[in-house]
Amino acid sequence: MARPTFYITTPIYYPSDRLHIGHAYTTVAADAMARFKRMMGYDVWFLTGSDEHGQKIERAARARGLSPKAYVDEIVAGFKELWARLDISYNDFIRTTEARHTQVVAAIFTRLYEQGDIYKATYEGWYCTPCETFWAEARLAHGNCPDCGRPVELVREESYFFRLARYADRLLEHIARHPDFIQPEARRNEVVSFIKMGLEDLCVSRTTFDWGIQVPFDPRHVVYVWIDALTNYISALGYGTPNDELFRKFWPADIHLVGKDIIRFHCIIWPILLMALDIELPKRVVGHGWLLLESGKMSKSKGNVVDPLVLVGKYGVDAIRYYLLRELPPGADGYYSEENLVAKINTDLANDLGNLLSRLTAMITRYQDGTVEAAGPHEGLDEELIDLAVGTPGEMAALMDAFDLPGALGAIWRLVNRANKYIEETAPWALARDGRRNRLATVLYNLAEAYRFVTVMLTPFMPALPPRVWEQLGLLDRPDLTTWGALQWGRLPPGTRIKRGAPLFPRIEAVK
Ligand code: MSP
Repeated sequence: MARPTFYITTPIYYPSDRLHIGHAYTTVAADAMARFKRMMGYDVWFLTGSDEHGQKIERAARARGLSPKAYVDEIVAGFKELWARLDISYNDFIRTTEARHTQVVAAIFTRLYEQGDIYKATYEGWYCTPCETFWAEARLAHGNCPDCGRPVELVREESYFFRLARYADRLLEHIARHPDFIQPEARRNEVVSFIKMGLEDLCVSRTTFDWGIQVPFDPRHVVYVWIDALTNYISALGYGTPNDELFRKFWPADIHLVGKDIIRFHCIIWPILLMALDIELPKRVVGHGWLLLESGKMSKSKGNVVDPLVLVGKYGVDAIRYYLLRELPPGADGYYSEENLVAKINTDLANDLGNLLSRLTAMITRYQDGTVEAAGPHEGLDEELIDLAVGTPGEMAALMDAFDLPGALGAIWRLVNRANKYIEETAPWALARDGRRNRLATVLYNLAEAYRFVTVMLTPFMPALPPRVWEQLGLLDRPDLTTWGALQWGRLPPGTRIKRGAPLFPRIEAVK
């Protein structure tokens, strides 16, 4: 039987500048989910990319004295380098300047025009260049963009319009029938009330700049960036081309992961575009909160942008991934600070997780000459640890399906902490001193087995960690014992040879 499929996407990022830790969050979260589903046996397609057209990019390129293409080529190379450093396991990277994308956008635009969903008219309105959005006068906030607060420009031009309003009722019905479509619930409510306020037709072309996809039947116009950008989710699968196996296999998307600022584009414009094209809607759009600084938003003008490459260089990829995924509560904002990052590394990674491995490998080395021995009969304390270990994968999987990554990590940490407590409760050093060899073997077996469970479950979050653990636990050449399917208590073979190694996460003394 064919494996079930799972298609997950990140937003495609603007190459107007280098990416910061907030952007890294979105991609790392999608990566953890993609890896988790692969581990569960799904046939996964994980897409990311870059959103390269628009006036903002054109202006940024000009400011650097480069052509837009030369400019984005350089920045996009930096994106790819960042994703490599963060161990991002994407299957495809789509650039909106690639022919495989521009062709699909041009064809879609033509089709919508021919079937009457797009029409031409004269437009006068207020345009926010940074947000690439038009606003009706009534919606401006003190004359500025209601989203970002920056000045808007009065624009009068001939444009093409997309009849959004035509589909509003169908969209509301779809949202009502599919309670999972927009998550979390607060975002769904926000979208529903926005639609109920009444949708205006959307201006979907521009004539004031060139850096975009030309409207094929009216080359003075370029396609509005959001129509261009959203289409990436299907153009990357070959939709509408003779080469559409991926589209047939993976569409509809299981999850579009997006930040809260772009939820409306994904939950209003995108589904309506798909309805107009008679394409099934994605199953879920998950909106996450923002990673903020105590001083507010990260921005270049404030000079407070946190570069993820610098952090990876300083603290290592697994520590950064762990911090990002543990810190941002589902759907809500979180705060970044380096002090907090260091505190988390020291407490959760160095103390809880790292020390547990050091203690257990030290004891097996010292008391049993480095060999895991068979467990004897279980006592009450053992049952408690084993029950928790056996129950945690299911709990973690349910939390992952709810896209609650901090919750899933929290469940794993309950097991880590339970194992640490088990050491205190069973006091293996006293068992050794009293010559209770069988009891000691049982305790050490249980600890090693619990650690195997923990490490398998951590694999999607911290992909660089498991090989380091398997080496110490003597399981490097036993891939059959390190899969999700191998999470059955007692599979760790007695006789396994432990190899003590360096601490997984050395303590960090102070923020430099
Ligand atoms: N190009 C559009 C997306 C098109 S998708 C069809 C875009 N690009 S972006 O580069 O500005 O932002 C991409 C993503 O990064 C968004 O989901 C946004 O929410 C996220 N983030 C940007 N800053 C962020 C934080 N400080 N914290 C968390 N996520 C943030 O929008």
